[in-house]
Amino acid sequence: MSLIDDAARVRENAYAPYSKFKVGAALKTASGAVFVGCNVENVAYPEGTCAEAGAIAAMIAAGEVSFIEVAVIAESPSPVPPCGGCRQKLAEFAESGAQITMATTEGAHLEMAVADLLPGAFVAGHMDQV
Ligand code: THU
Repeated sequence: MSLIDDAARVRENAYAPYSKFKVGAALKTASGAVFVGCNVENVAYPEGTCAEAGAIAAMIAAGEVSFIEVAVIAESPSPVPPCGGCRQKLAEFAESGAQITMATTEGAHLEMAVADLLPGAFVAGHMDQV
């Protein structure tokens, strides 16, 4: 079973009555553990959460703090990319060299390095005092 399959399966549980756009995400850590999440919308729209945020929360709750691979899937004309906020969230926990697979439910895939999702990312070093 691939990480995309895990993401596709949890996507079925997405709560997306407002956008009708169900997203699934799955993270794999170096230990081999897999953590999944789906988007959870709210009638107060900004309170909704993305699939990636759910998968990260599950990983952290289980006591792990970094991942080596992430998969994101949605029913979309092209492989669905993480939103801007999720790029920052993923950057926080991605191991060096971590890979992302973006996918559509129709079977299209796009792979890249997580680091390439957010050029010029804000990192802890930017808070160093000068
Ligand atoms: N969404 C995600 O879950 N992940 C992304 O990276 C893109 C957007 C969700 C948020 C919202 O519930 C729906 O897709 C439409 O924006």
